[in-house]
Amino acid sequence: MQPVAERLRRRIALEGGITIAAYMETVLAGAGGYYRDRDPLGEGGDFITAPEVSQMFGELLGLWCIDTWRRLGAPDPVHLVELGPGRGTLMADALRAARVAPDFLAAKQLHLVEINAELRRQQRDRLADHAPHWHESLADLPDGPLLVIANEFLDALPVHQFVMTDQGWRERIVTLREDALAYGLAAPGAALALLRPPHKQARPGAIAETSPAAIALVDSLARRLMAQSGAALFIDYGPAESGLGDTFQALRHHRFHDPLRDPGEADLTAHVDFAALAEAALQAGAGVFGPVTQGDFLRSLGLELRSEMLAEKADAATAEILRRQCRRLIAPGEMGRLFKVLAVTGANLNQLAGL
Ligand SMILES: C[S@@+](CC[C@H](N)C(=O)[O-])C[C@H]1O[C@@H](n2cnc3c(N)ncnc32)[C@H](O)[C@@H]1O
Repeated sequence: MQPVAERLRRRIALEGGITIAAYMETVLAGAGGYYRDRDPLGEGGDFITAPEVSQMFGELLGLWCIDTWRRLGAPDPVHLVELGPGRGTLMADALRAARVAPDFLAAKQLHLVEINAELRRQQRDRLADHAPHWHESLADLPDGPLLVIANEFLDALPVHQFVMTDQGWRERIVTLREDALAYGLAAPGAALALLRPPHKQARPGAIAETSPAAIALVDSLARRLMAQSGAALFIDYGPAESGLGDTFQALRHHRFHDPLRDPGEADLTAHVDFAALAEAALQAGAGVFGPVTQGDFLRSLGLELRSEMLAEKADAATAEILRRQCRRLIAPGEMGRLFKVLAVTGANLNQLAGL
């Protein structure tokens, strides 16, 4: 198969330039793309996620699922769905913690939405006891009530970027300059309908981002939850309010990398616009809880208590590791403030734990 970089170059040469969204989509999810067949997580990879920081993260989400399932009237069966489950760590920790509720474990049918062959293999190993079903996309899920978890999934969905110029907004594109990938601007007027109202006022040089893919995903999920009941929990990094700014970034070996260098070899992400997603869910008639910060969410689910309880029973070195993990998840300067939690629900849910 032709490497991603080579295919991109040919396509850009033919088309003159492609949007940032098309670039992200091709580099991450296209044939041979970054998310198709490698494990990018952990020390040896490019980044670390909350479930890989501490098993307490997945355990608390497991307890959140049981609580939400009961609030939904304990439907049996219920489709327990994870979008982009990575190594399967979060779900394995969640289901281990869910042993306290055998009725939930018996009612749940496990569905994993994953495009990555290597990560599917790891998920199969970790979750074999729960007979998971894999899907390429949310649209392939069977009918019925849903409980959906998505941690660091939305940030990988493509965003469009717009740059304010003296002549107004222009979409940012990836083009070729002296045979190297470089940023450029699309013709005036192209795709401006994608810009959201909070972005309309800005000074020259400002950058606006929007992810129609993330908005469409939340919209269709919200409609489905309204029709068939359930709840979805999104955890990701980004602001609570829509704003301006360039958050398109690449990570390689745990360091920031130029997003246009080595396409297919570095993770590409952009901050999640939680206000835009909440608005999409509300417009679809669904319930919305949050966004709240990850720190507040985990604290209110009892992370600090749990980590202290475990630390008190552990030796000094393990106790220190547990406390460090807890800080990493909730401290404002670490993951506690940048990461937000948003829930979207079908009808008839007045309250949710932690939100
Ligand atoms: C940043 S990782 C997060 C993994 C996991 N949720 C965690 O917290 O450790 C993104 C996950 O989403 C998957 N993924 C990325 N793009 C996807 C897509 N378009 N459809 C389905 N899964 C995708 C990746 O393979 C990976 O499992």
